[in-house]
Amino acid sequence: NVHIVIMAGGVGSRFWPYSRNAKPKQFIDVLGVGKSLLQLTYERFLSVSNKDNVIVVTNHDYAGLVKEQLPDLSDHQILCEPSRRNTAPCIAYAAYKIHAKDPNAIMVVTPADHVVFQYEKFANVAQQAIDAANGTDKIVTIGIKPTRPETGYGYIQYMEKEKGVVKKVKTFTEKPELELAKTFLESGDFVWNAGIFVWSTKAITNAFKEFLPDIAESFAEGEDLYYTNEEQVFIDKIYPACESISIDYGILEKSPNVHVIEGDFDWSDLGSWDSLHDLRDKDDDQNVVDGDALMFDCKNSIVKVESNRVVILDDLDGYLVGDFKDVLIVCKKDNEAKFRDYVAKVKLER
Ligand code: GDD
Ligand code: MG
Repeated sequence: NVHIVIMAGGVGSRFWPYSRNAKPKQFIDVLGVGKSLLQLTYERFLSVSNKDNVIVVTNHDYAGLVKEQLPDLSDHQILCEPSRRNTAPCIAYAAYKIHAKDPNAIMVVTPADHVVFQYEKFANVAQQAIDAANGTDKIVTIGIKPTRPETGYGYIQYMEKEKGVVKKVKTFTEKPELELAKTFLESGDFVWNAGIFVWSTKAITNAFKEFLPDIAESFAEGEDLYYTNEEQVFIDKIYPACESISIDYGILEKSPNVHVIEGDFDWSDLGSWDSLHDLRDKDDDQNVVDGDALMFDCKNSIVKVESNRVVILDDLDGYLVGDFKDVLIVCKKDNEAKFRDYVAKVKLER
């Protein structure tokens, strides 16, 4: 069986104050289409497998939001983490649980907060990855043609000469420094890691044993407890002790079995306000406006008004204006690095 695992436990700090601790970006309708990113992700994957084989892994705190937004899912399809330990433990939990019942399972892992519009192209690539991973020890990831020296992504160099669409990976470099990212981009040999992974549960549990043995051992101990009343107690006990590490640093950079298939679909991980502005429908002045604001001579801006104040904006070009009940932010929308500073200062408490 093909199992879909949606990772929905991140905090989406780059989209603060839109994305909050209490309601991170994956649970918000950032595109203005009436559905959250999680709901869109779920829909997209229904053409890859059926709803009974979908699992959402999230923090305890967000289980209620997941249930509310995806009422089709039963409780046992929502896996709850007691603490944040990044993506490796999250994936290990899902992998060991699925493997306990379905040892020949294929697992497709996806972030909950990405945007893909071309569903059909996407489903085709996913299917090819599934075919390649089925019954093998291949760890397959989807690659995206890079367009800028983004330092927040993984960079993949693969064996050009390999036959077939799924190619063996030569090097995987997670979040390189800017200079290195520039070199990768200029060489033309690299693709971005989309963060969508396909593998058999056999392959990934073997990789955990080899590269993250402590995590492997912890989750293997639960073999008889998954799908029982004791599962949550067991997870709550072992989870906080797990190393906090991403799957990219923990396994993708290390395993010799990593393969990549290039995705020809449009893709965005909505990493910045600029990328959101690119994706959204805009008015004649290239503004994206959610809520009510009186605007004079404003262009290329994102405006979001959630308060009930009268908001008047004049002569803004390339700004983000967010007027929330408890936060007012006015800043240039293209300065990603500064957003990290803002968030650090307010500590995401709000
Ligand atoms: N359940 C759970 N628990 N989910 C988590 C956790 C966690 O502790 N931490 C992160 N996630 C979820 C996030 O919500 C997101 O959907 C996904 O896992 C990926 O985590 P990010 O924190 O967004 O990773 P990243 O963007 O820095 O890097 C990854 O994605 C890039 C592409 O967007 C890497 O895979 C990069 O290599 C890749 O290029
Ligand atoms: Mg991300």
